[in-house]
Amino acid sequence: MQSKTQQSSFGKLADDTAVHLYTLTNSTGLVAKITNYGTIITELHVPDRHGKPGDIVLGFDNLDQYLKGHPYFGCTVGRVANRIAKGKFTLDGKTYSLAVNNGPSHLHGGLKGFDKVLWKAEPQAGAAIKFTFTSSDGEEGYPGALTVTVVMTLTDANELRIDYSAHTDKPTPINLTNHSYFNLAGAGDVLGHEFMLAADRFTASDANLIPTGEIKPVKGTAMDFTSPTPIGSRFSQLKSDPIGYDDNFVLNNGGKSLALGARVFEPASGRVMEVHTTQPGIQLYTGNFLDGTLTGKHGVVYRQHSGFCLETQHFPDSVNQPTFPSIILRPGQAYRQTTAFKFSTQ
Ligand code: GLA
Repeated sequence: MQSKTQQSSFGKLADDTAVHLYTLTNSTGLVAKITNYGTIITELHVPDRHGKPGDIVLGFDNLDQYLKGHPYFGCTVGRVANRIAKGKFTLDGKTYSLAVNNGPSHLHGGLKGFDKVLWKAEPQAGAAIKFTFTSSDGEEGYPGALTVTVVMTLTDANELRIDYSAHTDKPTPINLTNHSYFNLAGAGDVLGHEFMLAADRFTASDANLIPTGEIKPVKGTAMDFTSPTPIGSRFSQLKSDPIGYDDNFVLNNGGKSLALGARVFEPASGRVMEVHTTQPGIQLYTGNFLDGTLTGKHGVVYRQHSGFCLETQHFPDSVNQPTFPSIILRPGQAYRQTTAFKFSTQ
């Protein structure tokens, strides 16, 4: 089979602008559908251990439902993914104020982040699509015009590879991630999925999920995924409300090169997903806030823990934590990050 990228219509925005859906098919038959609205991955079809394909991401089958609002299904998150305490930071002596859209914090780029904008799309050779968006100076309170490119490729090694790059005309924070919710069984809850995280440490956080600045060892805690563990097996030890993981792990590789950050195995289907990333951190989120009010593809109701996210990233609130790796991009510098989700069976 020849890998390919096909374009189709995915509806219209309120102002009548046409939105497209891109279907990427690789040489082994993996299929990803991605729209240029928010660069949302709407479908991802991966075979189980018997070779039977199944859609393993949460989402909707039409644009209107995405437009009505949703908890960041499948999208690129930016300009700064995760939380910024009180929506404030100081850069080169100037203080910036951002939208406070998550309790007392700024979350995932603000009121109209990169998940809610229309990106320019250019299909590439094979199974690949290049998305470009320029966020204007001052947009959502952030300084500098920032041009972002996200290339998504379905490789013949059965990876969904995401290459991010960006440049700016003024110093600005940047922290891009993809917010896909996975369910390797294709349905039901994810509590029996076995997780391995290549992280000996995590960033401790307060009740608002803002890091305290402390980096703690996972050893002896419910955060220890250094050997494969069913994700739901230690929920009773967590203090979170709603229950589940919503935590940033410090990857052992430290963001130096593309390295294994996580491996997830779903025993019933045999599906395995490895996450390789150049980022120093990964947010494990177990869909704690899903509450049965959204009905997705194929009429499936999304309940608590129907999906999980592995958001490769710099640490939350890095702009206010001098000891964390910096997320400041300056003019003349090139921002580059890669994350690859690699699929197999066992
Ligand atoms: C991230 C956050 C969660 C939640 C989801 C979206 O993963 O860490 O707390 O806000 O996004 O619902």
